[in-house]
Amino acid sequence: MRCIINFSQLILSNYLIQLFHPMQTNPSTKHLISYQQHLQSFIQRYNQRTKKSKKLAQTNRPFLADNKSFVDFNITLKEMFYPIVATSSLGSKIWDVDGNEYIDVTMGYGVNLFGHNPSFLKEALAAQLEQGIQIGPQAEFVGEVAELICEFTGMERVAFSNTGTEAVMAAIRLARTATKRHKIALFSGSYHGHYDGTLATTVMINGNLQTVAIAPGITQDVVKDVLVLDYGNPESLELIKYYAQELAAVLVEPVQSRRLDLQPQLFLQELRQLTIESGITLIFDEMVTGFRIHPGGAQAWFGIEADIATYGKIVGGGMPIGVIAGKAKYMNAIDGGLWNYGDASYAQEKKTFFAGTFCKHPLAIASAKAVLQYLKAQGNTLQEQLNQQTLQFVKTLNFYFKKEKLPIEMAHFGSIFGSTSMGNNFTEGESSVIVFDLLYYHLLYRGIMLRGNGGFLSTAHTDKDIERIIFAVQDSIEELKEAGLLASY
Ligand SMILES: Cc1ncc(COP(=O)(O)O)c(C=O)c1O
Repeated sequence: MRCIINFSQLILSNYLIQLFHPMQTNPSTKHLISYQQHLQSFIQRYNQRTKKSKKLAQTNRPFLADNKSFVDFNITLKEMFYPIVATSSLGSKIWDVDGNEYIDVTMGYGVNLFGHNPSFLKEALAAQLEQGIQIGPQAEFVGEVAELICEFTGMERVAFSNTGTEAVMAAIRLARTATKRHKIALFSGSYHGHYDGTLATTVMINGNLQTVAIAPGITQDVVKDVLVLDYGNPESLELIKYYAQELAAVLVEPVQSRRLDLQPQLFLQELRQLTIESGITLIFDEMVTGFRIHPGGAQAWFGIEADIATYGKIVGGGMPIGVIAGKAKYMNAIDGGLWNYGDASYAQEKKTFFAGTFCKHPLAIASAKAVLQYLKAQGNTLQEQLNQQTLQFVKTLNFYFKKEKLPIEMAHFGSIFGSTSMGNNFTEGESSVIVFDLLYYHLLYRGIMLRGNGGFLSTAHTDKDIERIIFAVQDSIEELKEAGLLASY
């Protein structure tokens, strides 16, 4: 039997739910010995290789309330549950406090499109540091950066925040202001940051599907106007139609990081048509896809014009940034709209509230300017080549998994890749979660730094890096097979 567990769902539930219910494992006696021997020997080797990172985690724990983790806490793997502490990075590589070198495919959760510490960004940041960090007056290049973003994204006006979460929060507020409606719809499996107003899910209560907050501390009131729908499912369009007059916005992560195999262009086109007809704001959350899949992001890739799009990550070049780009009709709620000197004009449109001490931070703006100018000079070929390289990489891995009859399959969207599914070809009683977590640690041990179940390629990754990653995957899998943790179907 194959693919009974969708790994993206596992990641989602791990991320959102199992946080509060750490998973216990229950290996069967049949494989207990080899499994335990493997764990014991591997944990020892892993700890030995990363001992300073482990020591720092223990030292920091009393003071540092730490959410840093690519895999969830699991009692069986507890002794390896600590973040690798990085000391330096360059190109595709990261070095840790123990002196280990890693090929990094975490790439700052998708920030580092050009690899680590590229010289053009270092120079832009050094030049701004030389000028100082003036928070209060306007950052010198902010207008240029806004104009460049409009050029790339096809949007009319732009505002800046410090994170993607803030950008999404502001986009929703702008949509509610413009439409004077309250409800928003978003899709299960998507991630839009940690703003309370998007942290909703649906559960069946007394036979009725209800929206509830995903974690303690988020009140029911905050999510009561959120509809969580099934992504790519035509029935969701019917529900949007049903609630059309109440919906301020539909918020979409066009290709969800957790469901890379789901790229529903037709659904998105129909959604666009429906939202136009119903006066609903279509918000594309392009935090991950923006500037990566295509210079114009998912909007350009799918040929769909959203009303508002949110960006971050790549465009900040490693500095914290969030971008809200949209049609003037929405963005004018930030400043009241356009006006001129020397006549009777003034900002006439209804404003909402938008603020932030660090918005338009001079370092983030200088860095964004350098990123956008670099991307403009490179043209579409940068993304095309990287997408092609990732396609080949994923094809090679899938060919190997298939040849070995392993219950693993990878997908990619441009240069983002991740596993889509994990079957149940594990030793009796063992779960795919622990095997995937173990695979993650095995790869780290072999000098490959993944983001959970996948990662990002950057323009700094060479063919040799990719060969090394593939070799490390094969080597790790061989060891897991020998320990009886993974079997061919
Ligand atoms: C699609 C999407 N939206 C929003 C966010 C939140 O961005 P940030 O972490 O900068 O707040 C993320 C973060 O990964 C994301 O992937």
